[in-house]
Amino acid sequence: MKFSLSALVLLGSSLLAAAAPAAAPAGSALDKRASLSTFAGTNAYWLTTLTSDTDVDTAMSAIAKAGLTHVRTWAFNDATSCSGVYFQCWSSGSPVINTGTDGLQRLDAVVTAAEKYGLKLIMPLTNQWTDYGGMDMYVSQLTGGSTHSDFYTNDKVMSAYKNYVKTVVTRYKSSSAVLAWELANEPRCTSCETSVITNWATTMSAYIKSLDSSKLVGMGDEGFMNNGSSASTYPYQGKEGVDFAANLKISSIDFGTLHLYPDSWDMTNDWGNTWISDHQAACEAAGKPCILEEYGVKSDVSTVFESWHNTIKSVGMVGDLYWQFGTTLSSGKTADDGYTIYSSDSDFSPLVETWAQSRKSS
Ligand SMILES: *[C@@H]1O[C@H](CO)[C@@H](O)[C@H](O)[C@H]1NC(C)=O
Repeated sequence: MKFSLSALVLLGSSLLAAAAPAAAPAGSALDKRASLSTFAGTNAYWLTTLTSDTDVDTAMSAIAKAGLTHVRTWAFNDATSCSGVYFQCWSSGSPVINTGTDGLQRLDAVVTAAEKYGLKLIMPLTNQWTDYGGMDMYVSQLTGGSTHSDFYTNDKVMSAYKNYVKTVVTRYKSSSAVLAWELANEPRCTSCETSVITNWATTMSAYIKSLDSSKLVGMGDEGFMNNGSSASTYPYQGKEGVDFAANLKISSIDFGTLHLYPDSWDMTNDWGNTWISDHQAACEAAGKPCILEEYGVKSDVSTVFESWHNTIKSVGMVGDLYWQFGTTLSSGKTADDGYTIYSSDSDFSPLVETWAQSRKSS
């Protein structure tokens, strides 16, 4: 999800039966991939920006109490004016990773709380969007330009990204609370050949595996399909430089990701059901699980969620994470971008808890 700056200022089935790989070594990513069973989770990007361990604990406890088992949050936070919480500070083209109390120790707190509450984390390592720095900060700092596609191809940029990835991935090598790393939140390369992102993802996912082969690796993308010029609607036209099926074939990518925001894509809520089933079909063809890892609507939430949840169940998609969880912390309510469902909302129980409980494996 791309969200506005105002939002961040506020707070600071079992795996698709299809192709379960036989006899993967215990503890390996393949083994983990095969053993995924149905789950419901949520997004709370702001968790890693919280400065108080108590707030982190409060939020994670509320997530777990609802029956949600998986949480997606940002494992990046790049800055040029470096104050408050940031993970990597850029100055004159040089990145310095912040391992201090307002640096990666904030991420440590989230991992520790996830371990405490038995939650699994899914964490993208940079951002398509400029929120918290993202790809364009690497590009502007290292090339002096603003060509977004350089993020995927420029040698200096690729090695700086790798350096950050190495620091974070190796830091949590021993934590079983980290289920998956994602290459980026919603990577796009608008108007590029889709091979640009596929080549980049091939290199970077293999790199993460070389650092820690026990974690799953996903793209973190929106799941755009590249059906060629015959496709009549935007999400299937490959215009953002993403080819879902091609990326899913990468051997070091363990699962497929899709997001669902019909409002932003000029599609109908009902079409969301097709989006879910199209991806499940592609994932079954690839023998890999699919996670609907972001979805939201700003109105008719009950009706729309019920319809999408039914489809998730009927097509056998293994997991979903709604965008996004909210609760009240020491500084007040957490970020509201119009999609937030707070634990205090009257529809939280029917929309979130009931669904989450029904998806928990017994
Ligand atoms: C695009 O291709 C996928 C995979 O073959 C298919 O499931 C989907 O229905 C197609 N959609 C459109 C609109 O072309």
